[in-house]
Amino acid sequence: MIKVLIAIPLLIGAIGTVLLVVPQEKDAKQVYLDKCSVCHGEDGKGQTAKGKKLKVKDVRSPEIQKMTDAEMLTVVLKGKGQDMDAFEKDLGADMCKKITAYMRGLAKS
Ligand code: HEC
Repeated sequence: MIKVLIAIPLLIGAIGTVLLVVPQEKDAKQVYLDKCSVCHGEDGKGQTAKGKKLKVKDVRSPEIQKMTDAEMLTVVLKGKGQDMDAFEKDLGADMCKKITAYMRGLAKS
């Protein structure tokens, strides 16, 4: 009986952990396509209707290429200007970091 009493909270804890961890582990590409590609484009070129309207820059452009990872990350975390939202609250700093790296990678493909 005592074992069962110990096992139940452990089980609940384990399920809770899984539920908390899973959204975090959604991969960066998926989140990018979901949250960013409307403006930045699946390929990072910003050639979407919204991207063109807001004059989103191509990740391959010299301006973006010369930004450091930290500068890009700050934009993702804190937002910039009127149209680039801050994503830190929504996605968490870790995911923002992964997406920034993913975006950077788009420039190389
Ligand atoms: C509503 C359209 C929109 C969405 C959605 C959006 N962005 Fe942006 N983003 C912009 C605009 C516009 C700028 C340029 C802001 C400026 O320079 O004033 C920008 C700038 C940036 C920059 C700085 C480099 C640059 O291109 O000027 C990064 C990095 C960036 N966005 C990443 C992301 C990521 C990652 C996401 C998804 C989590 C995202 N953006 C979602 C519109 C958007």
